[in-house]
Amino acid sequence: MTQSQLFWWHTGIVYQVYPRSFNDTNGDGIGDLPGVIEKLDYLQQLGIDAIWLSPFFPSPMKDFGYDVADYCDVHPMFGDLATFDKLIAEAHQRHIKIIIDWVPNHTSTEHPWFIESRSSRDNPKRDWYIWRDAKPDGSLPNNWGSIFGGQAWTFDETSGQYYFHQFDPAQPDLNWRNPNVKAAMLDTLRFWLRRGVDGFRMDVVYMIWKHPDMPDQPLAPDAIPRNENDIFSTQQQLYAYDYEGVHEIMREIRATLAEFGEDKIAIGEVWLPLEKRLQYLGNNDELHMPFNFDLIGDWDWRYVKPFNAAKIRQLVDAYDAALPDFATPNYVIGSHDIPRIASRLGSEARARVAAMLLLTLRGIPTIYNGEEIGMVNGVIPPDKVQDPQGIRLGAIHTRDQCRTPMQWDNSTYAGFSTVEPWLPVNQDFPQRNVATQQMQPDSMWALYHQLIQIRRNHAALTLGTYQSLASPEDTFVYMREYNQEKFLVLLNFSDEARTITLPHGGTILISTSLNRTGEVDDEIMLHGNEGILIKLG
Ligand code: GLC
Repeated sequence: MTQSQLFWWHTGIVYQVYPRSFNDTNGDGIGDLPGVIEKLDYLQQLGIDAIWLSPFFPSPMKDFGYDVADYCDVHPMFGDLATFDKLIAEAHQRHIKIIIDWVPNHTSTEHPWFIESRSSRDNPKRDWYIWRDAKPDGSLPNNWGSIFGGQAWTFDETSGQYYFHQFDPAQPDLNWRNPNVKAAMLDTLRFWLRRGVDGFRMDVVYMIWKHPDMPDQPLAPDAIPRNENDIFSTQQQLYAYDYEGVHEIMREIRATLAEFGEDKIAIGEVWLPLEKRLQYLGNNDELHMPFNFDLIGDWDWRYVKPFNAAKIRQLVDAYDAALPDFATPNYVIGSHDIPRIASRLGSEARARVAAMLLLTLRGIPTIYNGEEIGMVNGVIPPDKVQDPQGIRLGAIHTRDQCRTPMQWDNSTYAGFSTVEPWLPVNQDFPQRNVATQQMQPDSMWALYHQLIQIRRNHAALTLGTYQSLASPEDTFVYMREYNQEKFLVLLNFSDEARTITLPHGGTILISTSLNRTGEVDDEIMLHGNEGILIKLG
Protein backbone atom coordinates (compact mmCIF):
# COMPACT_ATOMS: atom_id res chain seq x y z
CA MET A 1 0.00 0.00 0.00
CA THR A 2 1.27 3.46 -0.80
CA GLN A 3 0.78 6.58 1.28
CA SER A 4 -1.54 7.97 -1.40
CA GLN A 5 -4.01 5.24 -0.44
CA LEU A 6 -4.54 6.53 3.05
CA PHE A 7 -8.07 5.89 4.26
CA TRP A 8 -9.76 7.34 7.33
CA TRP A 9 -9.05 4.25 9.39
CA HIS A 10 -5.29 4.69 9.13
CA THR A 11 -5.62 7.53 11.61
CA GLY A 12 -9.14 7.00 12.94
CA ILE A 13 -10.68 6.17 16.29
CA VAL A 14 -13.73 3.89 16.50
CA TYR A 15 -16.33 4.37 19.25
CA GLN A 16 -18.73 1.50 19.93
CA VAL A 17 -22.30 2.50 20.71
CA TYR A 18 -24.48 -0.18 22.29
CA PRO A 19 -27.76 1.48 21.23
CA ARG A 20 -29.99 -0.10 23.89
CA SER A 21 -27.92 1.51 26.61
CA PHE A 22 -26.77 4.77 25.05
CA ASN A 23 -29.58 7.34 25.09
CA ASP A 24 -33.35 6.89 25.32
CA THR A 25 -35.38 9.66 23.67
CA ASN A 26 -38.83 8.05 23.48
CA GLY A 27 -39.22 7.21 27.15
CA ASP A 28 -39.36 3.41 26.98
CA GLY A 29 -36.24 2.77 29.08
CA ILE A 30 -34.30 1.54 26.02
CA GLY A 31 -31.90 3.62 23.97
CA ASP A 32 -32.72 4.44 20.35
CA LEU A 33 -31.32 5.89 17.12
CA PRO A 34 -32.64 9.43 17.70
CA GLY A 35 -30.71 9.10 20.98
CA VAL A 36 -27.53 8.47 19.03
CA ILE A 37 -28.26 11.42 16.73
CA GLU A 38 -28.76 13.62 19.78
CA LYS A 39 -25.29 12.69 21.03
CA LEU A 40 -23.40 13.22 17.77
CA ASP A 41 -22.20 16.64 18.89
CA TYR A 42 -20.91 15.03 22.06
CA LEU A 43 -19.03 12.38 20.06
CA GLN A 44 -17.62 15.03 17.76
CA GLN A 45 -16.43 16.96 20.79
CA LEU A 46 -14.83 13.83 22.22
CA GLY A 47 -12.98 13.56 18.92
CA ILE A 48 -13.78 10.12 17.56
CA ASP A 49 -13.90 9.34 13.82
CA ALA A 50 -16.34 6.46 13.49
CA ILE A 51 -19.24 4.94 15.37
CA TRP A 52 -19.73 1.18 15.41
CA LEU A 53 -23.41 0.62 16.17
CA SER A 54 -24.34 -2.70 17.73
CA PRO A 55 -27.52 -4.21 16.19
CA PHE A 56 -30.67 -2.10 15.82
CA PHE A 57 -32.51 -4.49 13.46
CA PRO A 58 -35.94 -6.06 14.01
CA SER A 59 -35.40 -8.82 16.54
CA PRO A 60 -37.21 -10.63 19.33
CA MET A 61 -34.20 -9.53 21.44
CA LYS A 62 -33.37 -12.96 22.84
CA ASP A 63 -29.72 -11.95 22.48
CA PHE A 64 -30.47 -8.23 22.46
CA GLY A 65 -30.39 -7.79 18.73
CA TYR A 66 -27.76 -10.37 17.81
CA ASP A 67 -30.78 -12.47 16.86
CA VAL A 68 -31.84 -10.70 13.68
CA ALA A 69 -35.36 -11.14 12.28
CA ASP A 70 -34.82 -8.80 9.32
CA TYR A 71 -31.39 -7.69 8.13
CA CYS A 72 -32.78 -4.78 6.13
CA ASP A 73 -34.86 -2.79 8.56
CA VAL A 74 -34.80 -1.00 11.91
CA HIS A 75 -36.56 -2.30 15.04
CA PRO A 76 -39.39 0.13 15.86
CA MET A 77 -37.99 0.47 19.40
CA PHE A 78 -34.90 2.09 17.84
CA GLY A 79 -36.61 4.11 15.07
CA ASP A 80 -37.10 3.37 11.38
CA LEU A 81 -35.14 3.51 8.14
CA ALA A 82 -35.74 7.24 7.84
CA THR A 83 -34.18 7.71 11.29
CA PHE A 84 -31.23 5.63 10.20
CA ASP A 85 -30.81 7.72 7.03
CA LYS A 86 -30.89 10.82 9.19
CA LEU A 87 -28.24 9.35 11.46
CA ILE A 88 -25.97 8.70 8.49
CA ALA A 89 -26.51 12.19 7.10
CA GLU A 90 -25.99 13.92 10.44
CA ALA A 91 -22.93 11.84 11.27
CA HIS A 92 -21.37 12.45 7.87
CA GLN A 93 -21.99 16.15 8.23
CA ARG A 94 -19.76 15.97 11.31
CA HIS A 95 -17.18 13.82 9.49
CA ILE A 96 -18.12 10.80 11.58
CA LYS A 97 -18.31 7.42 9.81
CA ILE A 98 -21.05 4.90 10.55
CA ILE A 99 -20.11 1.24 10.85
CA ILE A 100 -22.94 -1.19 11.54
CA ASP A 101 -23.03 -4.67 12.97
CA TRP A 102 -23.62 -7.54 10.55
CA VAL A 103 -24.59 -10.88 12.05
CA PRO A 104 -23.84 -13.46 9.34
CA ASN A 105 -23.54 -16.65 11.40
CA HIS A 106 -27.14 -16.93 12.56
CA THR A 107 -30.56 -15.32 12.32
CA SER A 108 -33.40 -15.25 14.79
CA THR A 109 -35.86 -18.16 14.83
CA GLU A 110 -38.33 -15.40 13.90
CA HIS A 111 -36.56 -14.54 10.65
CA PRO A 112 -38.93 -15.39 7.74
CA TRP A 113 -36.16 -17.59 6.28
CA PHE A 114 -36.15 -19.78 9.36
CA ILE A 115 -39.93 -19.79 9.67
CA GLU A 116 -40.04 -21.19 6.12
CA SER A 117 -37.13 -23.51 6.71
CA ARG A 118 -38.68 -25.15 9.75
CA SER A 119 -42.14 -25.44 8.14
CA SER A 120 -41.32 -28.75 6.42
CA ARG A 121 -38.44 -30.94 5.30
CA ASP A 122 -39.07 -30.17 1.65
CA ASN A 123 -39.45 -26.42 1.93
CA PRO A 124 -37.10 -24.69 -0.55
CA LYS A 125 -35.45 -22.88 2.37
CA ARG A 126 -34.94 -26.09 4.40
CA ASP A 127 -31.26 -26.16 3.46
CA TRP A 128 -30.74 -22.49 4.42
CA TYR A 129 -30.10 -23.71 7.96
CA ILE A 130 -28.32 -26.73 9.38
CA TRP A 131 -30.78 -29.57 9.95
CA ARG A 132 -29.77 -33.08 10.98
CA ASP A 133 -31.46 -36.31 12.03
CA ALA A 134 -30.84 -37.82 15.42
CA LYS A 135 -28.22 -40.58 15.37
CA PRO A 136 -29.67 -44.09 14.82
CA ASP A 137 -29.59 -44.65 18.59
CA GLY A 138 -31.77 -41.59 19.04
CA SER A 139 -29.00 -39.37 20.42
CA LEU A 140 -28.12 -35.87 19.20
CA PRO A 141 -26.55 -35.45 15.71
CA ASN A 142 -23.16 -34.72 17.30
CA ASN A 143 -21.61 -33.73 20.63
CA TRP A 144 -21.16 -30.00 19.95
CA GLY A 145 -21.92 -27.62 22.80
CA SER A 146 -23.38 -24.10 22.51
CA ILE A 147 -21.21 -21.14 23.51
CA PHE A 148 -24.08 -19.96 25.70
CA GLY A 149 -24.24 -23.32 27.49
CA GLY A 150 -26.09 -26.56 26.81
CA GLN A 151 -26.15 -28.54 23.56
CA ALA A 152 -25.88 -26.83 20.19
CA TRP A 153 -28.92 -28.72 18.84
CA THR A 154 -32.62 -28.13 19.36
CA PHE A 155 -35.29 -30.59 18.27
CA ASP A 156 -38.07 -29.33 16.05
CA GLU A 157 -41.26 -31.29 16.69
CA THR A 158 -42.98 -30.35 13.42
CA SER A 159 -40.33 -31.70 11.09
CA GLY A 160 -38.72 -34.24 13.42
CA GLN A 161 -35.13 -33.00 12.99
CA TYR A 162 -32.60 -31.01 14.99
CA TYR A 163 -31.33 -27.56 13.99
CA PHE A 164 -27.89 -26.31 14.89
CA HIS A 165 -27.20 -23.17 16.94
CA GLN A 166 -23.73 -22.16 18.02
CA PHE A 167 -25.37 -19.67 20.43
CA ASP A 168 -28.91 -19.50 21.84
CA PRO A 169 -31.64 -21.87 20.54
CA ALA A 170 -33.29 -18.64 19.32
CA GLN A 171 -30.26 -18.12 17.00
CA PRO A 172 -30.18 -20.90 14.39
CA ASP A 173 -26.96 -20.98 12.31
CA LEU A 174 -27.28 -20.23 8.61
CA ASN A 175 -25.92 -22.75 6.13
CA TRP A 176 -23.33 -20.71 4.24
CA ARG A 177 -22.52 -23.74 2.09
CA ASN A 178 -25.82 -23.11 0.30
CA PRO A 179 -25.04 -20.56 -2.48
CA ASN A 180 -28.48 -18.97 -2.10
CA VAL A 181 -27.74 -18.16 1.54
CA LYS A 182 -24.44 -16.62 0.60
CA ALA A 183 -26.05 -14.54 -2.15
CA ALA A 184 -28.87 -13.36 0.12
CA MET A 185 -26.46 -12.44 2.90
CA LEU A 186 -24.09 -10.54 0.61
CA ASP A 187 -27.13 -8.65 -0.62
CA THR A 188 -27.87 -7.49 2.91
CA LEU A 189 -24.44 -5.83 2.87
CA ARG A 190 -25.34 -4.08 -0.38
CA PHE A 191 -28.62 -2.87 1.14
CA TRP A 192 -26.79 -0.89 3.82
CA LEU A 193 -23.92 0.17 1.59
CA ARG A 194 -26.47 1.75 -0.73
CA ARG A 195 -27.80 3.68 2.28
CA GLY A 196 -24.32 5.05 2.83
CA VAL A 197 -22.77 3.03 5.65
CA ASP A 198 -18.99 3.16 5.83
CA GLY A 199 -18.42 -0.45 6.80
CA PHE A 200 -19.39 -3.35 9.00
CA ARG A 201 -18.36 -5.01 12.21
CA MET A 202 -18.92 -8.66 11.36
CA ASP A 203 -20.17 -10.74 14.23
CA VAL A 204 -18.24 -14.02 14.83
CA VAL A 205 -17.49 -14.02 11.12
CA TYR A 206 -14.89 -16.81 11.46
CA MET A 207 -17.69 -19.20 12.52
CA ILE A 208 -19.78 -19.14 9.37
CA TRP A 209 -18.04 -22.07 7.65
CA LYS A 210 -18.17 -25.43 9.40
CA HIS A 211 -16.99 -28.93 8.61
CA PRO A 212 -19.65 -30.26 6.20
CA ASP A 213 -20.06 -33.53 8.11
CA MET A 214 -19.91 -31.94 11.57
CA PRO A 215 -18.05 -34.81 13.25
CA ASP A 216 -17.88 -35.00 17.05
CA GLN A 217 -15.39 -32.54 18.57
CA PRO A 218 -12.64 -34.26 20.53
CA LEU A 219 -12.71 -33.54 24.26
CA ALA A 220 -10.32 -30.97 25.71
CA PRO A 221 -8.53 -32.97 28.42
CA ASP A 222 -7.83 -30.19 30.97
CA ALA A 223 -10.89 -28.06 30.34
CA ILE A 224 -12.74 -26.53 33.25
CA PRO A 225 -16.42 -25.97 32.37
CA ARG A 226 -17.96 -22.65 33.38
CA ASN A 227 -20.79 -24.51 35.12
CA GLU A 228 -22.67 -27.79 34.78
CA ASN A 229 -24.39 -26.52 31.59
CA ASP A 230 -21.12 -25.79 29.83
CA ILE A 231 -20.36 -28.44 27.21
CA PHE A 232 -18.69 -26.08 24.74
CA SER A 233 -15.62 -25.38 26.92
CA THR A 234 -15.00 -29.08 27.44
CA GLN A 235 -14.36 -29.64 23.72
CA GLN A 236 -11.61 -28.81 21.27
CA GLN A 237 -13.15 -26.66 18.59
CA LEU A 238 -11.73 -28.24 15.45
CA TYR A 239 -14.74 -28.18 13.16
CA ALA A 240 -17.04 -25.36 14.20
CA TYR A 241 -14.96 -22.36 13.17
CA ASP A 242 -11.88 -21.18 11.33
CA TYR A 243 -12.55 -24.18 9.15
CA GLU A 244 -10.87 -24.81 5.81
CA GLY A 245 -12.63 -22.78 3.09
CA VAL A 246 -13.62 -19.85 5.32
CA HIS A 247 -11.08 -17.55 3.63
CA GLU A 248 -12.73 -17.87 0.27
CA ILE A 249 -15.92 -16.46 1.81
CA MET A 250 -13.94 -13.63 3.43
CA ARG A 251 -12.70 -12.69 -0.05
CA GLU A 252 -16.25 -12.62 -1.37
CA ILE A 253 -17.34 -10.41 1.50
CA ARG A 254 -14.47 -8.01 0.83
CA ALA A 255 -15.22 -7.96 -2.89
CA THR A 256 -18.85 -7.07 -2.11
CA LEU A 257 -17.73 -4.09 -0.03
CA ALA A 258 -15.31 -3.05 -2.76
CA GLU A 259 -18.22 -2.73 -5.22
CA PHE A 260 -18.99 0.42 -3.24
CA GLY A 261 -15.43 1.77 -3.00
CA GLU A 262 -12.14 0.81 -1.41
CA ASP A 263 -12.91 2.85 1.70
CA LYS A 264 -15.67 0.60 3.07
CA ILE A 265 -14.19 -1.17 6.05
CA ALA A 266 -14.60 -4.84 7.02
CA ILE A 267 -13.96 -5.31 10.73
CA GLY A 268 -14.29 -8.88 11.94
CA GLU A 269 -14.90 -10.36 15.36
CA VAL A 270 -12.26 -13.10 15.27
CA TRP A 271 -11.29 -14.67 18.60
CA LEU A 272 -8.25 -16.60 17.41
CA PRO A 273 -4.56 -16.64 18.28
CA LEU A 274 -2.37 -14.10 16.45
CA GLU A 275 -1.18 -16.21 13.54
CA LYS A 276 -4.64 -17.57 12.69
CA ARG A 277 -6.23 -14.17 13.18
CA LEU A 278 -3.87 -12.43 10.78
CA GLN A 279 -4.80 -14.92 8.09
CA TYR A 280 -8.14 -13.09 7.97
CA LEU A 281 -6.31 -10.14 6.38
CA GLY A 282 -5.63 -12.40 3.40
CA ASN A 283 -3.50 -10.78 0.80
CA ASN A 284 -5.25 -7.49 1.53
CA ASP A 285 -8.33 -9.07 0.03
CA GLU A 286 -10.18 -10.34 3.13
CA LEU A 287 -10.97 -8.33 6.29
CA HIS A 288 -9.28 -4.97 6.77
CA MET A 289 -9.31 -5.44 10.46
CA PRO A 290 -9.78 -8.67 12.37
CA PHE A 291 -10.34 -7.28 15.86
CA ASN A 292 -7.29 -7.57 18.06
CA PHE A 293 -8.40 -8.66 21.53
CA ASP A 294 -4.86 -9.29 22.82
CA LEU A 295 -5.24 -6.60 25.49
CA ILE A 296 -8.38 -8.37 26.74
CA GLY A 297 -7.34 -12.00 26.52
CA ASP A 298 -10.20 -14.35 25.95
CA TRP A 299 -13.92 -14.25 25.15
CA ASP A 300 -14.34 -16.45 28.23
CA TRP A 301 -14.38 -13.98 31.10
CA ARG A 302 -12.48 -16.33 33.33
CA TYR A 303 -9.43 -15.90 31.13
CA VAL A 304 -9.47 -12.15 30.76
CA LYS A 305 -5.83 -11.10 31.12
CA PRO A 306 -4.30 -9.51 34.16
CA PHE A 307 -2.71 -6.21 33.24
CA ASN A 308 0.92 -7.13 33.25
CA ALA A 309 3.56 -4.87 31.66
CA ALA A 310 5.86 -7.65 30.47
CA LYS A 311 3.00 -9.64 28.96
CA ILE A 312 1.46 -6.65 27.23
CA ARG A 313 4.82 -5.58 25.83
CA GLN A 314 5.32 -9.08 24.46
CA LEU A 315 1.85 -9.15 22.87
CA VAL A 316 2.18 -5.71 21.30
CA ASP A 317 5.70 -6.47 19.99
CA ALA A 318 4.58 -9.78 18.50
CA TYR A 319 1.51 -8.25 16.87
CA ASP A 320 3.38 -5.27 15.50
CA ALA A 321 6.11 -7.48 14.04
CA ALA A 322 3.73 -10.01 12.51
CA LEU A 323 1.37 -7.57 10.77
CA PRO A 324 1.89 -7.34 7.02
CA ASP A 325 2.80 -3.85 5.75
CA PHE A 326 -0.56 -3.28 4.10
CA ALA A 327 -2.49 -3.84 7.34
CA THR A 328 -3.49 -1.31 9.99
CA PRO A 329 -3.18 -2.56 13.56
CA ASN A 330 -6.05 -2.18 15.99
CA TYR A 331 -6.59 -2.52 19.71
CA VAL A 332 -9.65 -3.13 21.85
CA ILE A 333 -9.89 -2.94 25.65
CA GLY A 334 -13.62 -3.36 26.16
CA SER A 335 -16.94 -4.16 24.53
CA HIS A 336 -20.53 -5.16 25.27
CA ASP A 337 -19.29 -8.74 25.87
CA ILE A 338 -16.46 -8.20 28.36
CA PRO A 339 -16.35 -6.83 31.92
CA ARG A 340 -15.56 -3.13 32.06
CA ILE A 341 -11.84 -2.34 31.87
CA ALA A 342 -12.01 -0.21 35.05
CA SER A 343 -13.46 -3.20 36.94
CA ARG A 344 -11.03 -5.68 35.43
CA LEU A 345 -8.08 -3.58 36.49
CA GLY A 346 -9.56 -2.70 39.85
CA SER A 347 -8.88 1.03 39.97
CA GLU A 348 -9.42 4.17 37.96
CA ALA A 349 -5.68 4.90 38.03
CA ARG A 350 -5.01 1.66 36.16
CA ALA A 351 -7.88 2.27 33.76
CA ARG A 352 -6.19 5.59 32.98
CA VAL A 353 -2.95 3.78 32.13
CA ALA A 354 -5.00 1.49 29.86
CA ALA A 355 -6.51 4.56 28.17
CA MET A 356 -3.06 5.99 27.46
CA LEU A 357 -1.94 2.62 26.12
CA LEU A 358 -5.00 2.32 23.86
CA LEU A 359 -4.69 5.84 22.48
CA THR A 360 -0.93 5.92 21.89
CA LEU A 361 -0.39 2.56 20.20
CA ARG A 362 -0.18 2.23 16.44
CA GLY A 363 -3.44 1.76 14.51
CA ILE A 364 -7.14 2.00 15.29
CA PRO A 365 -8.27 2.16 18.91
CA THR A 366 -11.83 1.11 19.70
CA ILE A 367 -13.46 2.84 22.66
CA TYR A 368 -16.55 1.19 24.14
CA ASN A 369 -19.20 3.71 25.25
CA GLY A 370 -18.69 4.66 28.87
CA GLU A 371 -14.97 3.87 28.96
CA GLU A 372 -14.32 7.59 28.54
CA ILE A 373 -15.80 8.20 31.99
CA GLY A 374 -14.34 5.06 33.54
CA MET A 375 -17.67 3.23 33.94
CA VAL A 376 -17.46 0.13 36.10
CA ASN A 377 -19.42 -3.13 35.99
CA GLY A 378 -23.03 -2.85 37.05
CA VAL A 379 -24.30 -4.95 39.92
CA ILE A 380 -27.13 -7.06 38.53
CA PRO A 381 -29.24 -8.93 41.09
CA PRO A 382 -29.64 -12.59 39.97
CA ASP A 383 -33.37 -12.12 39.37
CA LYS A 384 -32.68 -9.16 37.04
CA VAL A 385 -30.24 -11.00 34.77
CA GLN A 386 -31.28 -10.59 31.13
CA ASP A 387 -28.35 -11.86 29.10
CA PRO A 388 -28.97 -15.42 27.77
CA GLN A 389 -25.37 -16.34 28.58
CA GLY A 390 -25.85 -15.17 32.19
CA ILE A 391 -29.16 -17.01 32.48
CA ARG A 392 -27.62 -20.33 31.42
CA LEU A 393 -24.13 -20.04 32.81
CA GLY A 394 -24.79 -18.16 36.02
CA ALA A 395 -24.96 -14.50 37.05
CA ILE A 396 -21.17 -14.21 37.19
CA HIS A 397 -21.07 -14.69 33.40
CA THR A 398 -23.76 -12.16 32.62
CA ARG A 399 -22.80 -9.54 30.10
CA ASP A 400 -25.47 -7.26 31.55
CA GLN A 401 -22.71 -5.95 33.81
CA CYS A 402 -21.04 -4.05 31.00
CA ARG A 403 -24.29 -3.00 29.31
CA THR A 404 -25.77 -0.75 32.00
CA PRO A 405 -27.07 2.65 30.85
CA MET A 406 -24.61 5.33 29.82
CA GLN A 407 -24.19 7.88 32.62
CA TRP A 408 -24.75 11.33 31.12
CA ASP A 409 -25.52 13.46 34.16
CA ASN A 410 -26.62 13.30 37.79
CA SER A 411 -30.36 13.52 37.17
CA THR A 412 -32.65 10.53 37.82
CA TYR A 413 -31.57 7.57 35.66
CA ALA A 414 -28.34 9.36 34.86
CA GLY A 415 -29.87 11.37 32.02
CA PHE A 416 -30.19 8.15 30.02
CA SER A 417 -33.97 7.98 30.25
CA THR A 418 -36.96 9.48 32.01
CA VAL A 419 -38.27 6.07 33.07
CA GLU A 420 -36.68 3.05 34.71
CA PRO A 421 -34.15 1.69 32.20
CA TRP A 422 -34.01 -1.92 30.95
CA LEU A 423 -30.94 -2.51 33.14
CA PRO A 424 -30.29 -0.73 36.44
CA VAL A 425 -28.16 2.42 36.33
CA ASN A 426 -24.87 2.03 38.21
CA GLN A 427 -24.93 3.39 41.76
CA ASP A 428 -21.96 5.67 41.13
CA PHE A 429 -23.77 7.83 38.53
CA PRO A 430 -24.19 10.95 40.73
CA GLN A 431 -20.39 11.36 40.67
CA ARG A 432 -19.43 9.39 37.57
CA ASN A 433 -21.19 10.98 34.63
CA VAL A 434 -20.28 12.89 31.49
CA ALA A 435 -21.59 16.31 32.58
CA THR A 436 -19.72 16.25 35.89
CA GLN A 437 -16.51 14.96 34.38
CA GLN A 438 -16.56 17.52 31.59
CA MET A 439 -16.33 20.20 34.31
CA GLN A 440 -13.44 18.53 36.12
CA PRO A 441 -10.03 19.32 34.65
CA ASP A 442 -8.48 16.08 35.92
CA SER A 443 -11.34 13.64 35.19
CA MET A 444 -11.19 10.44 33.15
CA TRP A 445 -13.21 12.26 30.48
CA ALA A 446 -10.63 15.05 30.40
CA LEU A 447 -7.90 12.43 29.99
CA TYR A 448 -9.66 10.73 27.06
CA HIS A 449 -10.46 14.07 25.47
CA GLN A 450 -6.90 15.36 25.73
CA LEU A 451 -5.30 12.11 24.62
CA ILE A 452 -7.56 12.06 21.57
CA GLN A 453 -6.71 15.67 20.73
CA ILE A 454 -2.99 15.02 21.07
CA ARG A 455 -3.32 11.92 18.92
CA ARG A 456 -5.19 13.84 16.24
CA ASN A 457 -2.56 16.58 16.20
CA HIS A 458 0.53 14.40 15.84
CA ALA A 459 1.03 11.97 12.98
CA ALA A 460 3.69 10.18 15.05
CA LEU A 461 0.89 8.82 17.25
CA THR A 462 -1.16 7.51 14.35
CA LEU A 463 1.04 6.80 11.35
CA GLY A 464 4.35 6.70 13.22
CA THR A 465 6.47 3.61 13.80
CA TYR A 466 6.34 1.70 17.07
CA GLN A 467 9.34 0.43 18.98
CA SER A 468 9.39 -0.87 22.53
CA LEU A 469 12.38 0.05 24.69
CA ALA A 470 13.99 -1.78 27.60
CA SER A 471 12.56 -0.48 30.87
CA PRO A 472 12.34 -1.37 34.59
CA GLU A 473 10.11 -4.16 35.84
CA ASP A 474 6.34 -3.47 35.64
CA THR A 475 6.81 -0.69 33.13
CA PHE A 476 6.17 -0.60 29.42
CA VAL A 477 7.97 2.07 27.41
CA TYR A 478 7.72 2.64 23.69
CA MET A 479 8.68 5.16 21.06
CA ARG A 480 6.42 6.45 18.32
CA GLU A 481 8.18 8.23 15.48
CA TYR A 482 7.20 9.93 12.25
CA ASN A 483 9.44 12.19 10.17
CA GLN A 484 11.34 14.23 12.75
CA GLU A 485 8.76 13.80 15.53
CA LYS A 486 9.45 11.38 18.37
CA PHE A 487 7.16 10.55 21.25
CA LEU A 488 7.89 8.38 24.21
CA VAL A 489 5.11 6.61 26.09
CA LEU A 490 6.00 5.53 29.62
CA LEU A 491 3.50 3.34 31.46
CA ASN A 492 3.86 2.12 35.01
CA PHE A 493 1.64 -0.89 35.71
CA SER A 494 2.67 -1.28 39.35
CA ASP A 495 1.43 0.43 42.52
CA GLU A 496 5.00 1.52 43.28
CA ALA A 497 6.95 4.43 41.81
CA ARG A 498 9.48 3.60 39.06
CA THR A 499 12.35 5.65 37.73
CA ILE A 500 12.95 5.53 34.00
CA THR A 501 15.98 6.71 32.07
CA LEU A 502 15.17 8.50 28.82
CA PRO A 503 17.24 8.49 25.62
CA HIS A 504 17.30 12.29 26.03
CA GLY A 505 15.20 15.08 27.46
CA GLY A 506 11.87 16.35 26.24
CA THR A 507 8.52 17.82 27.20
CA ILE A 508 5.77 16.08 29.14
CA LEU A 509 2.62 16.53 27.09
CA ILE A 510 0.27 14.77 29.44
CA SER A 511 0.25 12.44 32.42
CA THR A 512 -2.61 10.08 33.24
CA SER A 513 -3.28 12.05 36.44
CA LEU A 514 -3.36 15.27 34.39
CA ASN A 515 -1.17 17.08 36.88
CA ARG A 516 2.27 17.11 35.27
CA THR A 517 3.66 18.97 32.30
CA GLY A 518 6.93 20.73 31.54
CA GLU A 519 10.48 19.84 30.62
CA VAL A 520 12.28 16.66 31.68
CA ASP A 521 15.94 15.72 31.45
CA ASP A 522 17.15 12.19 30.96
CA GLU A 523 15.42 10.65 33.95
CA ILE A 524 11.86 10.67 35.20
CA MET A 525 10.06 9.18 38.17
CA LEU A 526 6.66 7.69 37.44
CA HIS A 527 4.20 7.40 40.31
CA GLY A 528 2.42 4.10 40.89
CA ASN A 529 -0.06 3.39 38.06
CA GLU A 530 0.92 6.45 36.13
CA GLY A 531 1.46 6.92 32.43
CA ILE A 532 3.30 9.80 30.81
CA LEU A 533 3.56 10.95 27.22
CA ILE A 534 6.75 12.82 26.35
CA LYS A 535 7.65 14.64 23.16
CA LEU A 536 11.36 14.15 22.76
CA GLY A 537 13.86 16.70 21.57
C1 GLC B 1 -20.79 -11.87 19.31
C2 GLC B 1 -21.45 -10.67 19.93
C3 GLC B 1 -22.22 -11.12 21.13
C4 GLC B 1 -23.29 -12.10 20.66
C5 GLC B 1 -22.68 -13.25 19.89
C6 GLC B 1 -23.73 -13.99 19.12
O1 GLC B 1 -19.84 -12.44 20.14
O2 GLC B 1 -20.49 -9.69 20.21
O3 GLC B 1 -22.80 -10.05 21.83
O4 GLC B 1 -23.97 -12.61 21.77
O5 GLC B 1 -21.75 -12.81 18.93
O6 GLC B 1 -24.22 -13.19 18.08
